[in-house]
Amino acid sequence: MWAEKDIKKVLVNEQQISERSKELGAKITEDYAGKQPLLVALLRGSVPFLAELIKHINLDIQYDFMDVSSYEGTESIGDIRILKDLDTSVKGLDILLVEDIVDTGRTIQTVRETLLHKGANSVRIITLLDKPSRRVVDIKADYVGFEIENEFVIGFGMDFNQRYRCLPYIGVLKDECYQCNEE
Ligand code: IMP
Repeated sequence: MWAEKDIKKVLVNEQQISERSKELGAKITEDYAGKQPLLVALLRGSVPFLAELIKHINLDIQYDFMDVSSYEGTESIGDIRILKDLDTSVKGLDILLVEDIVDTGRTIQTVRETLLHKGANSVRIITLLDKPSRRVVDIKADYVGFEIENEFVIGFGMDFNQRYRCLPYIGVLKDECYQCNEE
């Protein structure tokens, strides 16, 4: 695998992601029985997780995408801008917001408030990874794949300066790679 030389450790492997997505899909199927939730995935990091998750939700769901600016390198930026809005109206809909990772919590909090303000009936959050030790706002995801320590991770949608998103597992880069990839 091309990236092996850059990886310090694998945190969550392909099989673990697949098994956990199956469990979460079953739980969502149960919790939203009789409803038709709209899955709102945040670009670009949540795309692989969305693709894995929807295989296991046995409901008449739809999905749409939003793009919000949040990150440069490894540092969180406070204010969040909407770069691409939804194509679907959320009025009266039950929304499941799909994230790759909740870090400070600012992104999902802002997006959640925006969707409620636009008339969504409910907004729940599902995230593949959660870094609770980094939280600066009071928000909790309703569904969490894996809780992790305060480490910068890459793979399965998550990037460092746009690289490593396409790896099938979640890992941590060798220290020197965080420097050598810096622009
Ligand atoms: P928050 O607003 O601080 O919660 O940031 C959430 C967003 O920051 C995620 O959707 C990711 O795009 C990015 N992010 C946070 N932590 C990491 C990480 O460890 N690796 C890659 N991206 C991250």
